[in-house]
Amino acid sequence: MAAIIDVQHVHKAFGGLKVINDCSIQVEQGSITGLIGPNGAGKSTLFNIIAGALPLDSGRVLLDGEEITNRPANELFHKGLLRTFQIAHEFSQMTALENLMMVPPAQAGETLFNAWFKPSLVGKEEAEVRRRALEVIDFIGLHHVRNELAGNLSGGQKKLLELGRTMMTDARVVLLDEIAAGVNRTLLGDLVTNIERLNREMGYTFLVIEHDMDMIARLCEPVIVLAQGSVMVEGSIEEIQNNPQVIEAYFGAAS
Ligand SMILES: Nc1ncnc2c1ncn2[C@@H]1O[C@H](COP(=O)(O)OP(=O)(O)OP(=O)(O)O)[C@@H](O)[C@H]1O
Ligand SMILES: [Mg+2]
Repeated sequence: MAAIIDVQHVHKAFGGLKVINDCSIQVEQGSITGLIGPNGAGKSTLFNIIAGALPLDSGRVLLDGEEITNRPANELFHKGLLRTFQIAHEFSQMTALENLMMVPPAQAGETLFNAWFKPSLVGKEEAEVRRRALEVIDFIGLHHVRNELAGNLSGGQKKLLELGRTMMTDARVVLLDEIAAGVNRTLLGDLVTNIERLNREMGYTFLVIEHDMDMIARLCEPVIVLAQGSVMVEGSIEEIQNNPQVIEAYFGAAS
């Protein structure tokens, strides 16, 4: 198996609280891998560690065979490893289109030298970024609200915008943290379709944290269950749903 993400024996504690405990997961290149588990299992923490937003205590993380342990998020971003956030963090005072145009990390206009001395280059690249942003906004079905302030978009539209932001760069692996939360069924269908298309047509690998089991069932293979900071079980959605340990972890308190 070609693992694009390889997490090896990671540990992480906050103060005395062990949150990630000897956790090892592999995400196969080209897969849409699901990451599920009870609240507080450590899913978002693991994402933060993989994406360089949080240092680990021990263990290793590899991206496509290259060690990226504790590398900063912006460096990983340039390597094509991106994460979205559990709470969408759009720039509310910019339009949806402008939000997309903000993403490319190496815009010529960002360096003072280019801005002052090469105005034609800046203009040309801006036009290119704008063209790409318009393509992306069509793809995610937000063309009709492209000039709306992002802060005025609905929760579901913000999630779509967040997904669109990952398309403005040459992403290889995208970590999605609960993008279905609070999204209505119709928009959720759009989101799922777009994730499938990005996977099939653009070769994106996804690691998806989700509580919505319908969405996991439709999208993800395999599914990894995290409980108390370690992998409890990994398999197809059917294997997961029929696993007594998983049923206990999810429904134990209720039954
Ligand atoms: N910065 C932090 N400082 C202290 N404790 C933290 C911090 N971040 C997370 N935790 C704790 O780590 C544990 C795991 O949190 P995490 O957010 O990773 O869970 P999760 O699996 O994403 O849960 P959910 O499904 O509710 O989003 C929780 O007990 C949480 O309180
Ligand atoms: Mg979380």
